[in-house]
Amino acid sequence: MSEKEKGESIETSEAEIAVHWAEEGFVYPSAQFIAQANMTDPAVYDRMALDKCPEYWKEYADMLTWYKYWDTILDTSDAPCYKFFKGGLINASYNCIDRHLAQYKNKTAIHFVPEPEDEKVEHITYQELYVRVNEFASILKNDLGLKAGDRVTLHLPMVGELPVTMLACARLGIIHSQVFGGFSGRACADRIVDSGSDYLITMDAYYRSGQLQDHKEKADIACDDAAKDGKKVKKVLIWQRYPGKYSAKTPLVEGRDLIINDMLKKHYGARIDPVQMPAEAPLFLMYTSGTTGKPKGCQHSTGGFLAYVTGTSKYIQDIHPTDVYWCMADIGWITGHSYIVYGPLSLAASSVIFEGVPTYPDAGRCWRIAQNLDVNIFHTAPTAIRALRKVGPDEPKKYTYHFKHMTTVGEPIEPEVWKWYYKEVGKGEAIIVDTWWQTENGGFLCSTVPAIKPMKPGSAGPGVPGIHPIVYDNDGNIVPAGSGKAGNICIQNPWPGMFQTIWGDRDRFVRTYFERYCKNPKSKDWRDWPYLTGDAAVVAADGYVRILGRIDDVINVSGHRLGTKEIESAALTVPEVAEAAVVPVKHEIKGKEPDLYIALKPGIKSTPELAKAISAAIVREIGAIARPRKVWIVPDMPKTRSGKIMRRVLGAISNGTDVGDVMTLANPEIVELITKMVQGEEGKPVIP
Ligand code: WT7
Repeated sequence: MSEKEKGESIETSEAEIAVHWAEEGFVYPSAQFIAQANMTDPAVYDRMALDKCPEYWKEYADMLTWYKYWDTILDTSDAPCYKFFKGGLINASYNCIDRHLAQYKNKTAIHFVPEPEDEKVEHITYQELYVRVNEFASILKNDLGLKAGDRVTLHLPMVGELPVTMLACARLGIIHSQVFGGFSGRACADRIVDSGSDYLITMDAYYRSGQLQDHKEKADIACDDAAKDGKKVKKVLIWQRYPGKYSAKTPLVEGRDLIINDMLKKHYGARIDPVQMPAEAPLFLMYTSGTTGKPKGCQHSTGGFLAYVTGTSKYIQDIHPTDVYWCMADIGWITGHSYIVYGPLSLAASSVIFEGVPTYPDAGRCWRIAQNLDVNIFHTAPTAIRALRKVGPDEPKKYTYHFKHMTTVGEPIEPEVWKWYYKEVGKGEAIIVDTWWQTENGGFLCSTVPAIKPMKPGSAGPGVPGIHPIVYDNDGNIVPAGSGKAGNICIQNPWPGMFQTIWGDRDRFVRTYFERYCKNPKSKDWRDWPYLTGDAAVVAADGYVRILGRIDDVINVSGHRLGTKEIESAALTVPEVAEAAVVPVKHEIKGKEPDLYIALKPGIKSTPELAKAISAAIVREIGAIARPRKVWIVPDMPKTRSGKIMRRVLGAISNGTDVGDVMTLANPEIVELITKMVQGEEGKPVIP
């Protein structure tokens, strides 16, 4: 890459400011864990070697119950849009519920833990889940007239009704698109419009840090904004947080809003046959941020997705039907779809859904839940682990739970935090898997197989069985394992969990994920289409992968992805703003936070009120998760001679690191001025 390109196309990437930890030694699983593990045969790696791809994916497909068995394991005729298990007919709701009834109908499928501790935990058995899903499916089919292939947007909080809604959609082949409950009405509107949903399913209210939040107000904003963008929502269906009582302050809109708990009365006892769906039919959309433009709808398939999450839940999460499994992610993110709902339920486990905040009302809350429900598998993100460690480093030992297995996901975990997780949360008894993957992938890409490979703090581990990572440099040369060099990590082969396309935008799908290292754009051979993950990584000589961070303009805040461009466009909705630039800044708990630089239009004065209004605009457009650490209103942005904002320089200033050579900038003097503004006169780094 030329110097010019370096300066202009790649600006601040997270990889450039990534932490570089020392290589840690191995930590071995206990004999006790190995004795009970689902996957203990090292030959699994030979069975799933690259030269046996794609045939080996049969092993995962065979964990499911098919109406009609598939005939083609992988159809590449439209590469890189693949079809797994072609010819097969299957239903995801049947696989997660009906097929377990004979053996497990009285076993808990879902433990719903409300945030208020004086509210009873709800234990939903597989039979009860079956009843609720059927009754709600009857509403979707008979009252709304929805059918296979229609899209429905869900904007639900962490409640038992969320998996009920998803599985009712899946029963009918309706494509669900769940929007993270913390996202704003505006963000929900974008997803309604993009997916073409006629209906929005929401809840009146939910608890967050002790407050019963009005959630219905977001539905009103979502419908108004969607209408402005040309999409009229026909009906809004509302679950009541307390059945029989409407708990939001926002009034119902006559003729549009319907209370599900009232509608259900006409559907008690209804039974809806699962629709036999082609394996490649879309199961759901999950929107995620990209480098440019609006969030993209990752389209996940029915058969492939379900096979992949079932297989990885069994081998990597080590889920048995007897386990009580708690993944503390939000179902509004992919982690929750794959590893709270579809994976664990497909394996007939008991899956915990917790409404609230892990540190509310105190640092012991999580461990009380674990103790009371006898949770033995725990799954969370480094952000939560850091927060729990900070507020209550000695809390876990006060409770008598025992985990056999723990997961970390979503961002790199510092070895020091890993060790606390291992020693204090896991009490030295639980194995840890550090799982690296993305919304696009459906399931894990890199992780250790817990009973086979030892753990290495700070490393995700090798590709999981059947996933074959490769690291390329910018010129397309392979960066060998053990070279100590970082590069762009790609996956060489297709896997059943990978998304099929970006909803309605095949070109963007190919461009974003495959164009860069494609060996022949006309090829129908998957070997010519390595999948670009967008992460930088280093592979050690032993094949363990260490993820350094994004190579594009995506920021990982609390393990969740935000596009810098998305935040910048939100800032630009404030009329006084001329230019906006977002850079990631390190944060003790969240990993990264967005720092926002603003240049105002000529003649406009910088005021604290204006900074507040800009911050508020971001919360309104995207949600509180995107709120910038600080809005820095600067007299001018550091720019190249061709006028491009140098985000790399701003990133260095925000993080108190070396700004490098700035003499080639059009306005080098501005760097010193902004540095003083951000770091203070003494040049104290923001991050100690
Ligand atoms: C990005 C994907 C699907 C998991 C939830 C986040 C980063 C994810 C790890 C990990 C280091 C990780 C990557 C990836 N990431 N897991 N174990 N170690 N980094 O999904 O919002 O689609 O974000 O999160 O940068 O590209 P997402």
